[in-house]
Amino acid sequence: MQRKGIILAGGKGTRLRPITNSVSKPLLPVYDKPMIYYPLTVLMQAGIREIAIITTPEDQPLFQRLLGDGSQWGILLEWIVQPTADGIAQAYLLAEDFLDGAPSALALGDNLFLGEGLTPHLAAANAALTGGSIFTCEVTDPERFGVATFEGNRVTGIVEKPRNPLSNCAITGLYFLDADAPRRARALKPSERGELEIVTLLESYLEEGALNVQRLGAGIKWFDAGTHDALLEAGQAVQRFQRTGELFGSPDGAAFSHGWSSGDSVESAMLQLGKTAYGSMLSALVRNGARASTALPT
Ligand code: DAU
Repeated sequence: MQRKGIILAGGKGTRLRPITNSVSKPLLPVYDKPMIYYPLTVLMQAGIREIAIITTPEDQPLFQRLLGDGSQWGILLEWIVQPTADGIAQAYLLAEDFLDGAPSALALGDNLFLGEGLTPHLAAANAALTGGSIFTCEVTDPERFGVATFEGNRVTGIVEKPRNPLSNCAITGLYFLDADAPRRARALKPSERGELEIVTLLESYLEEGALNVQRLGAGIKWFDAGTHDALLEAGQAVQRFQRTGELFGSPDGAAFSHGWSSGDSVESAMLQLGKTAYGSMLSALVRNGARASTALPT
């Protein structure tokens, strides 16, 4: 069964107030594109064509205005509401009907991956149809994240925001889990802070020796753009990376690379984007006919 995607784009964005008092965090700009374009593109890069987007009830129409039904990119977008932010692992309960027995890839709406070399990691995680895969990245401030410890390439432990981290390997907001994830999520109890914790769900895989890891190397820059500094840094990094001529976080580009979008929809995207930097990079991609090196075969 084909893996399906989920983007968790709810929550209140409290660490980005006052901006997020009126605009949902994943709609904020990261340089030249809305934040949600980046996780969406990662899922498309992994070859995933059916994606559910989970938002707060009030923000859903805004996301729909931006992304539509996905047909312009040859994908199918499904819309799910999360009434209150009851935890990342709740995504698997909310999306259970959508998944309908398929394995999944969950991406947090504020996580960005830039640079070369993500595609082989996505391919490896995609190929594992049983168990789960996490993606880790070395950081200088692991206490801000879920942290994993290893023996060789085997995960030995995971802890959410430890005070005294035992490693500097942060668990990024991208999780490839098998079809069993919704059943496991149903067995979770809310934590002290009242959330269904993703780390507890991952632990259930770890206990059975079924948690794999993709350790992202120095070539990949990862951002959780949930604070003012991180958001600014992420935007500057996109600007810098794109100076090399490569486009990041572009569903238009990913769809073109996979050959999923019709010539007409690429044309109309370019017309609509007009003279923006994003529009001209997209035109260059199309002109060069690069059926992207980054796309996985589907
Ligand atoms: O970014 C990676 C980190 O994301 C991981 O290292 C942590 O293990 C993981 O717990 C998570 O930590 P955060 O502190 O970033 O989680 P936060 O509560 O900020 O939620 C992450 C995103 O998911 C955020 O954009 C809002 C959205 N979200 C979160 C919750 C709890 C929802 O849409 N609904 C929710 O119920």
